[in-house]
Amino acid sequence: MPVTKAVIPAAGLGTRFLPATKAVPKEMLPVVDKPAIEYVVEEASRSGLRDVLLVTSRSKKAVEDHFDREAELEAALERKGDTRRLERIRSSTSLAEVHSIRQGAPRGLGHAVLCAAAHVGNEPFAVLLGDDLIDERDPLLPEMLAVQARFGGSVIALMEVPEEMVSMYGIATVDPEPVSTDGRYRTVRIRDLVEKPPLAEAPSNLAIIGRYALSPAIFDVLRRTPPGRGGEIQVTDALRELAMAADDAGEPVHGVIFTGRRYDTGDRVDYLKAVIRLACERQDIGQELYAWLEEYVAAGGPKASA
Ligand code: G1P
Repeated sequence: MPVTKAVIPAAGLGTRFLPATKAVPKEMLPVVDKPAIEYVVEEASRSGLRDVLLVTSRSKKAVEDHFDREAELEAALERKGDTRRLERIRSSTSLAEVHSIRQGAPRGLGHAVLCAAAHVGNEPFAVLLGDDLIDERDPLLPEMLAVQARFGGSVIALMEVPEEMVSMYGIATVDPEPVSTDGRYRTVRIRDLVEKPPLAEAPSNLAIIGRYALSPAIFDVLRRTPPGRGGEIQVTDALRELAMAADDAGEPVHGVIFTGRRYDTGDRVDYLKAVIRLACERQDIGQELYAWLEEYVAAGGPKASA
C-alpha cells in the first residue's frame, strides 16, 4: 500500500527565537520569502504524500491559516493582475490536503506523533520535523519510503554529526554492513537507539534527523512508552523498542544515511545560514545578495561597520 499520509509536529514553543516567536509561530518564520513550514509541506507533497496532518497547539493559528485559501487577498491580487504572487499564495493551498489536530499539552515528540493515531489509522506514514529542511536537490524521503516498501517496518533518516553535537540528537547503533546500497544513500539495520546521550555514552555519531517512515505499530508502543529524556515521551524510545523486538521476529527498523544538504532552522545561527545560502542560490535575488555579501566580507564584515 503506497504511503499517502505525512504528520508534521508543529506544537513547539519556539523559545530559541524569542521575542520573534512571542506572537508568531516559529514555523512561520520566513526562509527567504516563504515560511519554513511551507518547505516541509512541499517536500511531503513532492514525495507523494498528499494528506498532511499538522500537530499544532493553541498559539499556531497562523500556521493553519497559511494552508487555507485567503479569498480577500486573492481577489485583490486578481484585480491588480499580479498573477505571479497570486500563484505563489495559492500554491500553499494546493500542495496537499492539510489537516490539523491539537496537542493539548507539550508532552514530547512521541506524544505529538501519538496525537496522529486516529487520523493515520493502520497504515504506514511519514513524520517530518519542521526544524530540518532537506534540500530538494537531494531527495531523502522518497528513498526512505522505497526502503520501507522493500523491508517493511520503520525507517529513520541518519546523518553523521561532529562529536560535539551528538548530545543534541537521537543516536543509533547500526550493523556495520549496509543491507542495501541501491539508492543514493546507504541503508543500514538499526540495532539500538538512545535519545540525546552525553558524548561519553554515545554509541556512534549517527544522528537521527527529522524524517521518519513509520509503521503504525509505533502507536501501540508509544501508548506505553514512559517519559524519557527531558521528561517527555520520545519517538526514539519507541523506535528502540521496535528495533529490539525485531530480533524476535518483529518488524525491522532501518536507517538511511543521508549525505545531502540539510539546513537546521531550529537554531538561530543555522537558521541564518540557511536563509543566506538559499537566498544566494535564488535566480531572482541571488546575484545581488551574493555580490553585496562579498563586498561586506571583503570590507571586513562587522569590523567595517563598527
Ligand atoms: C528530535 C528527536 C531527536 C532527533 C531530532 C532531529 O529532537 O527527539 O531524536 O535527533 O529531533 O532534529 P528535538 O530536536 O525535537 O529536540
